[in-house]
Amino acid sequence: MFDIDTLFSAARAARANAYAPYSRFKVGAAVVGASGRIYAGCNVENAAYPQGTCAEAGALCAMAAAGETRILAALVTADAPCVTPCGGCRQKLAEFGGPATPVHCADLEKIVATFSLQDLLPHAFAPDHPRADAGR
Ligand code: THU
Repeated sequence: MFDIDTLFSAARAARANAYAPYSRFKVGAAVVGASGRIYAGCNVENAAYPQGTCAEAGALCAMAAAGETRILAALVTADAPCVTPCGGCRQKLAEFGGPATPVHCADLEKIVATFSLQDLLPHAFAPDHPRADAGR
């Protein structure tokens, strides 16, 4: 359905464009939509630090803008032994994936670990939560 090397390449290419002048920690992420299309993002920091956004958020925004709302897999890459999504991004990924959706964590050369969304965010407040759609 999708090629993991293509997913990795997309995340790595996005990482090259990361705007991280404050942390100097560049991150790339890519997600696979239900269509098989791949969407990538990078972290985009801001002088007002809390306004910075993570790579995963960028990838999910690109997917939503293209009209997709389900992910089959995600990959995050950075120059680190094993970068894992922050808590907020785990929640963002859970919005569009399921408990078994794989999240691949990679350094710049290889996937170092793979976790399911269930591993990363147990007991998630998910879209199927009885109250999650109360305001829709
Ligand atoms: N960051 C991401 O983009 N994704 C992650 O999975 C971990 C952290 C970014 C946020 C910030 O721009 C920088 O990395 C340092 O925390």
